[in-house]
Amino acid sequence: MSDKKEKKLWGGRFSAASSDITERISASVHFDSRMYKQDIRGSIAHAKMLASIGILSEDELQAIINGLVEIEKEIDEGKFEFLRSREDIHMNIEATLTERIGILGKKLHTGRSRNDQVATDFRMYIIDESAEIDQLLKRLLGELISLAEKNIDVIMPGYTHMQVAQPVRFSHHILAYAWQITRDRQRLSQAVAACKRLPLGSGALAGVNYSSNRKFIKDELNFDDIIMNSMDAVSDRDFALDFLYFATVLGIHLSRFCEELVLWSSSEFNFIRLSDSVTTGSSIMPQKRNPDVAELIRGKSGRLTGNLIALLTVLKGLPMTYNRDMQEDKEPVFDSIDTIKLCLEGMIEMLSTMEINREKMKEGLYRNFSTATDIADYLVKKGISFRESHEISGSIVKYCEENNKDFFKLSAAELRNFSPLIDEEIGDVLDPLKSVERKLSEGGTSLSSVQKQIVLLKSYLG
Ligand code: ARG
Repeated sequence: MSDKKEKKLWGGRFSAASSDITERISASVHFDSRMYKQDIRGSIAHAKMLASIGILSEDELQAIINGLVEIEKEIDEGKFEFLRSREDIHMNIEATLTERIGILGKKLHTGRSRNDQVATDFRMYIIDESAEIDQLLKRLLGELISLAEKNIDVIMPGYTHMQVAQPVRFSHHILAYAWQITRDRQRLSQAVAACKRLPLGSGALAGVNYSSNRKFIKDELNFDDIIMNSMDAVSDRDFALDFLYFATVLGIHLSRFCEELVLWSSSEFNFIRLSDSVTTGSSIMPQKRNPDVAELIRGKSGRLTGNLIALLTVLKGLPMTYNRDMQEDKEPVFDSIDTIKLCLEGMIEMLSTMEINREKMKEGLYRNFSTATDIADYLVKKGISFRESHEISGSIVKYCEENNKDFFKLSAAELRNFSPLIDEEIGDVLDPLKSVERKLSEGGTSLSSVQKQIVLLKSYLG
């Protein structure tokens, strides 16, 4: 980045140069240069439109396109010189184009303003990055489905309030996250749909004095529609909020999942073993394998949430239409994009390399009377109300606690003291491995219900 000084593109009415602090606080090129491809694509579409309505000749159009393509190549190759004094990516490109092709470079800005230009570029940038993010989400979803398929017969304790509650399939637990990811993808596609409304052609705020063909640009740039109010077009950043909201909710989902990976990989649980490739050692405690990747993904939900709050706060109370505050819209979005990509790659790596400790999960089933509810349901089938059966099951639990009895090994004879309705079948009722198969309700944890889920979820991979 060079801080060479020159007269501003907008400098016509100014006699004094900007002070150093003004330049430093105004500059955004050090972060918005990442939108150069979108800026150039937008400018080419705009130039084509200007040619189509007779403002540029065919030769002029060609010279502009050639100049822009050359600049794009230089930026690709890291050979382009960005000037801080040119503020942002838009003016860096336009000024360099003008240096090279003369006054014609300035004609490119006919019928547009940086206000509609930046809103268009920013939308395109989010659309482009979202396509990559969606690919990662799809890969993560695929990973979750294959983990569920491979371990379909693994049974583990399910928790509420972090207390063992009822036996569940490991796959069922994992697929709960898969469903969250399908909704994250939906939220992303809604954010992309919001981005696909074109601001370009709105000018600074009021529209432009040319018969701009906005539909032409919309088609060139693959937008779905044009924004029908020029003031709305240059002041709206809802699309960026939609994206940040998507990123925040995804970040929260991943943080919850990571919390479980951290717990499960602890020696207390020992349900899974995370690969060496995603854990780190301690410099003083040789036995440690720390789940840093999971912890960092859990932690990164903080900045994702912060980015959403940052933009909401920037926008709050801004009057119509464009205000310079809005330049603060980009860094939170860029940071969330980078963060989400990192987190998704980390999740895929952790899940594809982790080992499942099915024996430890099984041991956990025999804690905290995990089939006590099954006894109550069994008695309901024998004809009594759930309130009564709950009471009976509760007194069985109490009996075990007071007499130090193993709940899972209680005999039918012993249990008949609590209800004459109890017969030999009670052995199966107490068995946590059999409990899951009784959860035949749609969306339950029985084998057939989970297999149905897998089929349904696979349709989201297409
Ligand atoms: N860099 C500016 C931004 O990101 C571009 C728009 C500037 N418009 C203006 N009227 N100063 O918001």
